[in-house]
Amino acid sequence: MNQNINFQSLLTLDVVDGLRETTRELSVQAYLVGGCLRDHLLGRFPIRELDIVVVGNGIEFARKLHSKLNSPSEFTIYKNFGTAMFRFQDLTLEFVGARKESYSRNSRNPKVESGTLRDDLYRRDFTINTLALDVTSENFGLLVDPFAGVRDIGLRLIRTPLDASKTFCDDPLRILRALRFATTLGSFEIEKKTFEGIKRNKHRLEIVSRERVVQELNKILLTDKPSVGLYLLDRAGVLELLLPEITNLKGVEEIDGYRHKDNFDHTLQVVDNISRVTKNIWLRWAALLHDIGKPVTKKFIPPSKWTFWNHELVGSKMAKKIFTRLKMPLNEHLRYVQKLIAMSSRPISIVEDSVTDSAVRRLIFEAGEQIEDLIMLCQADITTKNKKRFEDFYNNFEIVKQKIVEVEERDRLRNFRPPISGDFIMEHFNIKPSREVGIIKESITEAILRGDIDNDFDQAFDLMKKEGKRLGLLSDED
Ligand code: CTP
Repeated sequence: MNQNINFQSLLTLDVVDGLRETTRELSVQAYLVGGCLRDHLLGRFPIRELDIVVVGNGIEFARKLHSKLNSPSEFTIYKNFGTAMFRFQDLTLEFVGARKESYSRNSRNPKVESGTLRDDLYRRDFTINTLALDVTSENFGLLVDPFAGVRDIGLRLIRTPLDASKTFCDDPLRILRALRFATTLGSFEIEKKTFEGIKRNKHRLEIVSRERVVQELNKILLTDKPSVGLYLLDRAGVLELLLPEITNLKGVEEIDGYRHKDNFDHTLQVVDNISRVTKNIWLRWAALLHDIGKPVTKKFIPPSKWTFWNHELVGSKMAKKIFTRLKMPLNEHLRYVQKLIAMSSRPISIVEDSVTDSAVRRLIFEAGEQIEDLIMLCQADITTKNKKRFEDFYNNFEIVKQKIVEVEERDRLRNFRPPISGDFIMEHFNIKPSREVGIIKESITEAILRGDIDNDFDQAFDLMKKEGKRLGLLSDED
């Protein structure tokens, strides 16, 4: 027991008053447990969720408190888990009866029976999550810390309370939780035996649903510096199981003294770079996957050149396979990631030379709504250590950004619709749907992109007439 820590800001919450009274009325013990105490000690505020363990019937306790607090929020019972939940003020409250668990080989879902507080803390994943704060009348404010969780929080150490291998074998989701906590809580280390347990049981991840796996990956990807978590996933041997396309990027090959860069380190740096400028999880995925086509397209062209020809399109196709395998959404999010990968080298070819209006026009036309995100990805993609090269590229992209604004204002190409429709062309020349309609439309679009004409009806109309004539079409005017 440890009574010297000040949990005042939790103990003075209105809801905790209610908890205390309810323990008296029902003659049961109740505790705040887990994440809220850990986060309180780490100064991770605001705390949005309180987990409450009741030594007795958690659902009955929750129902009583819900009516005592006159909470207008919905009262939800999760029968499968024996838990109840409701919201009060800006907190989510989750209730469960103290329980004992035993696991079978084939499932993450344990056999559960009622237990003591100790049983309940025993079954938890990491010592930093095993604190319990008594909110029962008699022992109000007393901290229960059977596994030295407070010490481990102080040491910033992730450690399993019981045998590490058994903990991860029983519930392999905890493998990802450990790696995620080490990343999201900020410079936490994973204790040696715990890390060994992770490595030994990594294959057990196959019984975890892909949706839960992706949830954890996303939490890592959403941190300020995802490379920390990704390197950790790699060191644990987990990355090669979940995303072999990323670990395949490792390594530098050398022929006749000519080397290419290590695309694994490069990719992780790009993910960090993009994470400095956006919270958009799909843009972060695009950064993570932007070079996955490289290993399969790699070629050495003598005398001195490494090429990855067409890796963008190959990578974009591979992204679909990854999304499918991980049961990620096969919707507009996938299409967005694919498009960014497929176009990821396009802007760089513009900035290698002087930036022309027509190149920018074409880029906006092809990237559409994703143009800003694409430029962000390209700027994040500049990882050269050569300061001069870095600045040249970076500044050229700043010019591209400016030009995008100018060209966009003038030509409105983002959601480009040709100023003259196919129907209009057919009516004007009195023709049926045919190759000629396509040719005329295409030459109008091309002329706008080249800058020969503006994105404007009158100029497009003149060009249409000219092209019609060239194709031997007649109109009523002729
Ligand atoms: N827990 C566990 N094994 C799991 C999931 C959860 O032992 N696979 C335990 C942990 O002790 C955790 C508690 O259940 O503290 C509540 O789980 P959850 O709310 O998911 O985690 P938090 O620790 O609150 O952290 P976060 O909300 O950031 O996930």
